[in-house]
Amino acid sequence: HSTSPMVVVANRLPFVICKNSKTGELTRKYSAGGLVTAVAPVVVETGGLWVGWSGLHLEDGISAIPESSPDDKSPTAGLRSDQVIPVNLPRKQFDDYYNGCCNACFWPLFHSMPDKAVFEEDKWEAYVAVNEEFAKLTMDAVHKCYERQPDQVPLVWIHDYHLMYTANYIRNICNDEGLKVKMAFFLHIPFPSWDIVRLFPWASQLLQGILGCDSVGFHLEDYCINFIDCCHRILGCRVDRKKRLIEHNKRSVSVHPLPISIPYDRFVQMAEEAPEAIKNKNEQQLLLGVDRLDYTKGLVKRFKAFERLLELYPQHIEKVTLLQIAVPSRTDVKEYQELKEELDQIVGRINGRFTTPNWSPIRYIYGSVTHDQLAAFYRDASVALVTPLRDGMNLVAKEFVACQIKEPGVLVLSPFAGAGVTMQEALQVNPYEQNQFAKVIHRALTMPFDERELRMTQLRRREKIRDVNFWLREVLKSVDSLDEACDSKL
Ligand code: UDP
Ligand code: G6P
Repeated sequence: HSTSPMVVVANRLPFVICKNSKTGELTRKYSAGGLVTAVAPVVVETGGLWVGWSGLHLEDGISAIPESSPDDKSPTAGLRSDQVIPVNLPRKQFDDYYNGCCNACFWPLFHSMPDKAVFEEDKWEAYVAVNEEFAKLTMDAVHKCYERQPDQVPLVWIHDYHLMYTANYIRNICNDEGLKVKMAFFLHIPFPSWDIVRLFPWASQLLQGILGCDSVGFHLEDYCINFIDCCHRILGCRVDRKKRLIEHNKRSVSVHPLPISIPYDRFVQMAEEAPEAIKNKNEQQLLLGVDRLDYTKGLVKRFKAFERLLELYPQHIEKVTLLQIAVPSRTDVKEYQELKEELDQIVGRINGRFTTPNWSPIRYIYGSVTHDQLAAFYRDASVALVTPLRDGMNLVAKEFVACQIKEPGVLVLSPFAGAGVTMQEALQVNPYEQNQFAKVIHRALTMPFDERELRMTQLRRREKIRDVNFWLREVLKSVDSLDEACDSKL
């Protein structure tokens, strides 16, 4: 594949930096994720860099990145400190950008929940300023690439809804300096329809920001169609829907459906090595939910459907437990705080209603678990409930099937997750209707072995082939074909 030095630009660095409050010593804390596992080694191999937020702020006064410790076995261990550019921002500015604009506005809007979106001019201004700061630091990275490998044109790869306005700045600076770069953008969340996007008061600026790139990737064909449609209707761009090309400022921007996936083999291995998750498994069936605590994940509706299951099919009482892991997320944002309260109440109410001396229907973990423990839950669960109201892709669905190495279980999947488009052998459920939802859970819990095995085998086969490395190869292919795409006439 491409040997261009890869400059990854993302809101987060692939690790956070921790400062020892007594000694002031800085250490790296690695947070495992599929994207980092796949992409960090490419940055290392190509001699590239990673630009992102370290988890600290300007006021914390860190200037240098610590080297990895000798016993660091993570995929980022090979990233030397001079391959990492931390973005340090004043706390208030970061808060306006991250909480105010990214998570209180773009997150709900792009998940087609405009009623939850807060539109505020000063938050958008902070977003623009922070994106410019990212662009400047990305230019430092580009300069380093040229110093180290003068013959190679760097590939700048920008990630997600935090940085939709960065590419344009980079392009302008590069034009001024006469520098060549290839630029790709990948959105990890849905791209909604024109009718939603146009609610954003600065929609045309936003679209132009993304169009600063040469190549734009989304998980699904549908998101590509929406993006092209917005560029046509809001900006008046000429577009070729078949070739997925957009003409902007006399350049062609190519658009690609590139569904992300997981490090499949690593999850299989973890499932093989993890100890038994639940004792007395033979008598109990485990329903499993694993999500960040986020309103897009449909947790309230899931708990209510589970309650309805116990009403409609009381044979499951004392036989089935719902284990829900809800990872704390974006706790400074009001919607998330309110959801936390609501979930605490619902869980309390349902448990209060159904608990017997030997059994509680819901086990609710507000926190995160280790990857080994997660692999054990995935492996030992009878049914995984992946029932978001809207989700760009959803990796939990894929991780679950990868870990199903023993008795085959059942994946219950919402069609409103990107994963629902390809994982056709899952049991589909519309999470908006409670009775149907409860019936589908019942069907999953009582499905005959042969059907479970057939469905799970097919799901696993697909995910094994189309893993995160396949995704990365496809991304690099789409970037390699840039010159061709840029030359082609609309
Ligand atoms: N996850 C984790 N620790 C936990 C629970 C979940 O690291 O305690 C991970 C999970 O393995 C998955 C990711 O969080 O890789 C969630 O990704 P997904 O695409 O499902 O949703 P997102 O959080 O990106 O909206
Ligand atoms: C989603 C986004 C990511 C983000 C993650 C966790 O997956 O697409 O960009 O990093 O959620 O959210 P956080 O706000 O904690 O980074």
